[in-house]
Amino acid sequence: MDSRLYSQADFASIEGKDIMERAQIFAEFMSDLRERHHLQYRRVSLTGSTPVMKVVDPYTGQIRDMIYLASNDYLNLTHHPRVIKAGRDALDKYGAGAGSVPLLGGTTDLHVGLEEDIARFKGCESAIIYTSGFGSNAGTLISLLQKEDCAILDMLVHASIVDGCQSTNIRYFSHNDMASLERALKRSQDKYRTRLVVVDGVYSMDGDIARLDRIVELSHHYGAYVMIDEAHATGVLGENGRGTPEHFNLEGKVDIVAGTLSKGLGGVGGFIASSKALVEYIRYYSRHYIFSTAMAPQVAGSLREALKVIEEEPELREKLWNNINYFRKALLTMGFNTGNAETAIFPIIIGDDLKVKEICRRCHEANIYVNPVVYPAVSKKLSRVRISLMAQHTRDQLDQVLDVLDIVGREYGVI
Ligand SMILES: Cc1ncc(COP(=O)(O)O)c(C=O)c1O
Repeated sequence: MDSRLYSQADFASIEGKDIMERAQIFAEFMSDLRERHHLQYRRVSLTGSTPVMKVVDPYTGQIRDMIYLASNDYLNLTHHPRVIKAGRDALDKYGAGAGSVPLLGGTTDLHVGLEEDIARFKGCESAIIYTSGFGSNAGTLISLLQKEDCAILDMLVHASIVDGCQSTNIRYFSHNDMASLERALKRSQDKYRTRLVVVDGVYSMDGDIARLDRIVELSHHYGAYVMIDEAHATGVLGENGRGTPEHFNLEGKVDIVAGTLSKGLGGVGGFIASSKALVEYIRYYSRHYIFSTAMAPQVAGSLREALKVIEEEPELREKLWNNINYFRKALLTMGFNTGNAETAIFPIIIGDDLKVKEICRRCHEANIYVNPVVYPAVSKKLSRVRISLMAQHTRDQLDQVLDVLDIVGREYGVI
């Protein structure tokens, strides 16, 4: 099979082929991608998430020291000494796992403390934690919205939000387009019991920021609630790293603040922060929470410390923003199309899947770790190389990356 003629979407369903036959055909596609060195997913790291990472080259077996530009660990808290120590202390005190679901014995004082810390950090009355951000979005939305209700979604919200809305009505509005949101709000007026507008604070593939001031104003004007997913904003946006509501001076004004604990906070898990009553409701109705073992205590221990680090070490966020501003200016000067990127995530929009794969191959060979984002993850005309920065990337490392991008960008006619 020539993988250049297909995309992953072609194998999601194949007429007349059962699941085993379909998997076999997909395996042939993957095997051809591998032969062409076009598969840049699941490369194995030997060091975890660090600005320069030791990576096993999937094609040669060689160990490469690669500048790592694909994590969401924006402040590199996964490796912060205080965060590591807090996790170790919790491991010693509470053991390796929670041992039970949260309602039936899996809740320790660390879990309760983390929920209180998150509620305070996010300026909400209360918070609930899940073992994944995907689970917290999907599990919460499934428990809240039914067939009498309506979710009004920005068309680029994360997959976990779309999956959480499968048993309710969905209306989409154009990405960050306030006229389109207003039309959706007007057209859905008086038709549903609850309307919930859901947006991401920072969009994971584009790095742009939701226009939260207008979104809250419009939604509340038309009687809808607002939920925001702060996955890529926590630790990054706002003077104190509290995220998009802080950035817009809207703390306490967003009805439901969701997020992950797995990106800027450097751990794993998700949270929902809201009123005390709504959080208590979710605790007893969300199947993803009720029927899933509580977060490992060492993760909760690390996360509590990570929140403190974000508050007590603002210089980390300052370094991140210095890197963002430097890198953005350089990419734009070189002539790359980075869409509306304004945070630590940079799409280099190329609009040609094959070129994206070739550029990622060349970056890999030059020890630059980036990921291709191609159809069906984004539309073909928006296929891209996705780059994300850390506070700890040095100027010298960023310059090395820019030099390589300059060479391959010219070679493939992108700039
Ligand atoms: C915007 C957004 N929301 C939710 C998630 C899911 O979070 P987690 O990785 O913690 O499951 C992600 C992660 O990929 C994300 O980018």
